[in-house]
Amino acid sequence: MVAFTIRPATPADAEALCALHKASVRALCLGAYTAEEIEAWLREREPAGFRHAMTKGGETILVAEHDGSVAGFASIKETMLFGLYVDPAGGRGAGGPLLQAAEGEVRRRGAAILSLQSTLNAVPFYRKHGYMRQARSTVRRGGRDLAVLDMVKTLS
Ligand SMILES: CC(C)(COP(=O)(O)OP(=O)(O)OC[C@H]1O[C@@H](n2cnc3c(N)ncnc32)[C@H](O)[C@@H]1OP(=O)(O)O)[C@@H](O)C(=O)NCCC(=O)NCCS
Repeated sequence: MVAFTIRPATPADAEALCALHKASVRALCLGAYTAEEIEAWLREREPAGFRHAMTKGGETILVAEHDGSVAGFASIKETMLFGLYVDPAGGRGAGGPLLQAAEGEVRRRGAAILSLQSTLNAVPFYRKHGYMRQARSTVRRGGRDLAVLDMVKTLS
């Protein structure tokens, strides 16, 4: 079982986070979304967006590392999980620890729930971690409406 170290991201991580995000979506979301949907989704993703999210956008990004490499990340803002992505090559298994760390951070800030919009491929993962389905929804990415599922967990 691989052990991952979790730490807060810094702007210096932006390039690695952006590359990992694209690799993760291309490898792990294909099937739930078409290749065309995925490329539309990723078209506007740039490292600058990650830097902005951390420094001005009010997001906290947690990074999972293994052997000095970024294996995955989770992004939270207030009581929302904005993103959770693992490296398809060396990061499988980092999703659970990252989600637990994100829940811990939100709890420390005094919030009682964590909500998210799950990609269709990740729904079984979130169910396993205690998230309840609320409603079907869509997110607008690259001019397309992508189907997602609104989910929420009451943090104990
Ligand atoms: C959803 C996601 C974050 C889950 O992360 P994860 O690390 O894959 O999740 P888990 O920790 O539960 O591990 C998943 C599986 O990989 C297996 N695994 C763990 N370590 C592994 C390793 N070193 N090599 C291969 N598989 C491994 C686990 O046993 C588990 O298998 P199981 O589901 O049969 O039990 C991840 O799949 C992902 O990044 N998906 C694409 C992006 C996405 O859709 N994110 C959600 C946005 S809302």
